Amino acid sequence: MNLKSKITDIYKKKIKLLKKHNKLYFESDNPKISDAEYDILKNEIISLEKKNNFLKKLNLNKTIVGSPPSNKFKKIKHLKPMLSLSNAFDKNDMRDFIDKIRNFLNIKDKDIEFSSEPKIDGISATLIYENGVLTKGLSRGDGNVGEDILENLKTINEIPKKIKGNNTPSLFEIRGEIYIGKKDFNNIKVNFANPRNAAGGSLRQKDSRETSKIPLKYFAYGFGAVKPMVFTTQSEFLKKIKNWGFSINPLGKTVKNLDEIEAQHSYIDSIRSSLDYDIDGLVYKVNDLKLQSRLGNTSSSPRWAIAYKFSAEKAITKIKDIVIQVGRTGAITPVARVEPVTVGGVVVSNATLHNEDEINRKDIRVGDIVQIQRAGDVIPQVISVDLSKRNQNSKKYIFPEKCLCGAVTKKEVNKSTKKEDAVRRCSKGYECDFTAREKLKHIVSKDAFDIEGLGKKVIDQFWEIELIRQPSDIFTINYNKIKNLDGWGELSINNLKKAIDNAKTIELDKFIFSIGIRHIGQENAKILSGFFQSINKFRDLFNSNDRKKILANLAELDGIGEIQIESINSFFSINNNVEIVRRLIDQLNVKNFKVRNKKGKFSNKTIMFTGGFEKMSRSEAKTLVENNGGKVLGTISKKLNILVIGNSKPTKKKIENAKKLNIKIILENEWYKILNL
Ligand code: IVH
Repeated sequence: MNLKSKITDIYKKKIKLLKKHNKLYFESDNPKISDAEYDILKNEIISLEKKNNFLKKLNLNKTIVGSPPSNKFKKIKHLKPMLSLSNAFDKNDMRDFIDKIRNFLNIKDKDIEFSSEPKIDGISATLIYENGVLTKGLSRGDGNVGEDILENLKTINEIPKKIKGNNTPSLFEIRGEIYIGKKDFNNIKVNFANPRNAAGGSLRQKDSRETSKIPLKYFAYGFGAVKPMVFTTQSEFLKKIKNWGFSINPLGKTVKNLDEIEAQHSYIDSIRSSLDYDIDGLVYKVNDLKLQSRLGNTSSSPRWAIAYKFSAEKAITKIKDIVIQVGRTGAITPVARVEPVTVGGVVVSNATLHNEDEINRKDIRVGDIVQIQRAGDVIPQVISVDLSKRNQNSKKYIFPEKCLCGAVTKKEVNKSTKKEDAVRRCSKGYECDFTAREKLKHIVSKDAFDIEGLGKKVIDQFWEIELIRQPSDIFTINYNKIKNLDGWGELSINNLKKAIDNAKTIELDKFIFSIGIRHIGQENAKILSGFFQSINKFRDLFNSNDRKKILANLAELDGIGEIQIESINSFFSINNNVEIVRRLIDQLNVKNFKVRNKKGKFSNKTIMFTGGFEKMSRSEAKTLVENNGGKVLGTISKKLNILVIGNSKPTKKKIENAKKLNIKIILENEWYKILNL
């Protein structure tokens, strides 16, 4: 082979590899190499082309960014959201979890029983049975809307197509985890990094005949919509569905205190490697379903369940460099570039060093041999330095005082604790290119505008060619400019257009969350959206006089505190932010806030509490008001309708003020009567 054909050969192989990784990233949402490795591969191709003009003529390099996004499956709204779980990593976290539950339910001394089940590391799916027959099967999607993957799920032998047994609910939604056995995985390994990715990949096949070739299995672990309800505990649910023909994990057990939780944890951890499926921890669920429903959910996870993870996987590697990354809130995060090392089946080449204090405390330096760990989906982190292996010439790492954009960085001081924040932040907001780019990535992300086909990599690419520089640009893209870009064809451009057009209509709370005001997460955005009701009212924040009045009123909302108010104020005090938000709004159709629980005992009523209750905590009382259509206020004003007084230590001043304003007062006993407790 002559040199030219040798180079061509290498080049073609790299193109093929890049194509594969593009597909994994963009279509299957399942990247198998790190961003850094991807960039290296891309740069190798570009530099080969630069050095060897003849390669360009082959015209192969159309794949640098983006194969068409997958609009493959029909989207269907879940009957009930598919939430995720919060995590516990040690005994203390579990103690906190139990204490929180006790506090919420105001249970002081009785044991609470938990159902303990392995947390299967697979892909979740939900199955809907109508009159005993499997009629729908959805992926989790974003938790609210899933994808219709029924045909693929039907190929799994273990999933009953009909429920076995009588007196089963007429509407029955079963939730479970799809996985591939370790042994089976070893036989089909070729294309996937681990069994979880393999399961995900085969569930997302367009052609269910492809799915049927992969030996998928499943364990049922929970329910969604059930009518009529026939279970009283989680353990009873599992037992019943086993008899109805569903596959459940055999290692479930009920436990009733921290010691039993610990014992079960160590036991399962010790047999973990002998199981034929991957588990990454145990899920603990309050067993009594009545208590579960009293506890309810936060916006993303149930209060009645937690994933107690096994200890993280660790590895030793060397720090090649320490670089700075700027996050969407301007946070400056140091990242260690390390020599690639496999941790728990995944190649890691970057690990976070958290912040300046952490680097100083551990005295981490370039060239150090370090231990890194990776737990679940969490970003790998550097945990310790092996000082005995340190090179004598190594120099202390000096944390840069400036942002990558050149602007000064600041550490904020917490007003109430007077302590300096550990995180340094760029002071420029949207005016910092690095922050702005991350803000754009946030805007298009799942919980925000959720624009399929416009992921992080594409934002980077569009940023570089100056196609998108601020949020409103997303909605005025000149598609002609994309046409000429490598990797974009008619189909992918049309899909992107469609996705962007769809995203123009957005709920007010998602909009508020998307614009990225610090300290305004999803939960706060919902509260604010209930307050503003419409985008027009929200616009009043742009004007500094109106803003003052609004911010004074916000203090009355339960859940919005000084920190949030201060943050909203400083966001809109910057003219550039106002302009950016204004331009974005001009492109959108922002829907008015819809009251979700209009009908209820407290419809259109505002309620405030003082004093503690015997039968429930303040948090539960608040949740009950909200679930019954009411709003809880934090201060007494003319806007308050009802003050509820608990028997334990109510504040006299509040009662007096309420009386002065002629506000209706309810005592603890009457409160229970209203709620039929
Ligand atoms: S219960 C409200 N039980 O873990 C959420 N989840 O982060 C209830 N998972 O998406 C989930 N094994 O896919 C539950 N025994 C188990 C599980 C389990 C695996 C997955 C599930 C969920 C994720 C939660």
